[in-house]
Amino acid sequence: MEILYSATKPTGKLTLGNYLGAIKNWKEMQNNYNSIFAVADLHALTINIDSKELNDNIYTQFATFIAAGLDPDKSIIYCQSHVKEHAELAWIMNCLTYFGEASRMTQFKDHKAKDKVVSVGLFAYPMLMAGDILLYNTQVVPVGVDQMQHVEICRDIALRFNSRYGETFVIPRGIIPKVGAKIMGLQNPLKKMAKSEDNDNNVIYIEDDDDTIRKKFKRAVTDSLNRIKYCDEQPGVSNLLTIYSSINKISITDAEKHFEGKNYGALKTEVAECVIREISPIRERLQELKNNKPKIEELMKKGAEKASKIARETLNKVYAKIGLVINR
Ligand code: TYM
Repeated sequence: MEILYSATKPTGKLTLGNYLGAIKNWKEMQNNYNSIFAVADLHALTINIDSKELNDNIYTQFATFIAAGLDPDKSIIYCQSHVKEHAELAWIMNCLTYFGEASRMTQFKDHKAKDKVVSVGLFAYPMLMAGDILLYNTQVVPVGVDQMQHVEICRDIALRFNSRYGETFVIPRGIIPKVGAKIMGLQNPLKKMAKSEDNDNNVIYIEDDDDTIRKKFKRAVTDSLNRIKYCDEQPGVSNLLTIYSSINKISITDAEKHFEGKNYGALKTEVAECVIREISPIRERLQELKNNKPKIEELMKKGAEKASKIARETLNKVYAKIGLVINR
C-alpha cells in the first residue's frame, strides 16, 4: 500500500470546508493507504494565537479526527510537536529553499497583504510542511486546492535535495478531491470557508448544533436568477450544490437534476439537513471524547511513538547525506 500523509492546523475550530475537503476523504482513504494524519500544531504558531485557545484547538482537532472515524489502529494519528524531527527537518528544508520561491507562495502573500506584521515563521511555513511530508516517505498527499501550491514546493525541494545529495526522499504527489476541494463561505461565496473568520454566519463549524446549522444555511447568500445551476454567475447556489453532492457522493450534474424545478428555500433546507445528518453524530462523539482528556492523551502518545520511529530513521539518513555526524 502507498503511504499517505495529511494534516490540519489548529488555528481555529474545524469547518465544514476542512471536513469535506479533507477529513471525510481521509476516512475513506485510510483503508487503501498506510495513512498518517497530524494535528500540525507547530504550524499554528505562525500566527499570533492565544495559548489557551491553541491548547483547546489541539485537543479538539485530535478528538475530531477520531470522532469522524479516523482509526488509530489502522492509521498513525499524532501531534506534530510531539515528534521533534519536524522542527529539525524544517531547518534543513529552509536551507534548501530559495528566498524567491518561498516569496511566491500565495498564502504568504495574502497574509502579508492583509496583516500588519507577519512572522518569519509564516514565511517558513511551507518548508515546515515540506518536512512533514518528506519525513514519512510519503507518496500521496490529499489536500484542498488552497494547499496544493505547498505540496508543489515540497516536491521541488525534495527533487533539489535528491539531485544535490543523491536519491533520498520519495517524491510525493498531491491529490485533490473530485468534489469539495474548495468549499466557499455561505455569506461570501467568492471566498473559501476558513477557520479564521470574523463573520460567524459565513462558516459552518463541525461543533455547530443542528439549529445553528439550519439558521446559517437559511441565511446563505444566493441570487435572483431563480434556477439551480452550477455556474460562475451563481457562486452561492454552486457552493450549496457542491456541499450537497460532496456529502451525498453524487456528481454535480446529478445534484442539479435532483433540484430541478425546486426553489432556493428547498435547496437550502435540503442541504442543511444533509449536513446535519452527516455532522451531528460526529459532534456527539466529539463531545464525549473531549470530556475524556486522558484518553485523548493516550492516543496522542501512541501515535507519536509510531511516527517518531519513522521520522528518526529518515532524519538520520538525511543528516548522513549532508555530512552531519550522527550522534548515536
Ligand atoms: P488547514 O488546516 O488550513 O486545512 C486542512 C485541510 O482542509 C482543506 N481545506 C478546505 N478544503 C475545502 N474547502 C475549504 N474551504 C477548505 N479549507 C481548508 C485544506 O486544503 C487542507 O487539506 N498547511 C496545512 C496543514 C498541514 C499539512 C501538512 C497538510 C501541515 N502539514 C502536510 C498536508 C501535508 C493547513 O494549514 O491546512
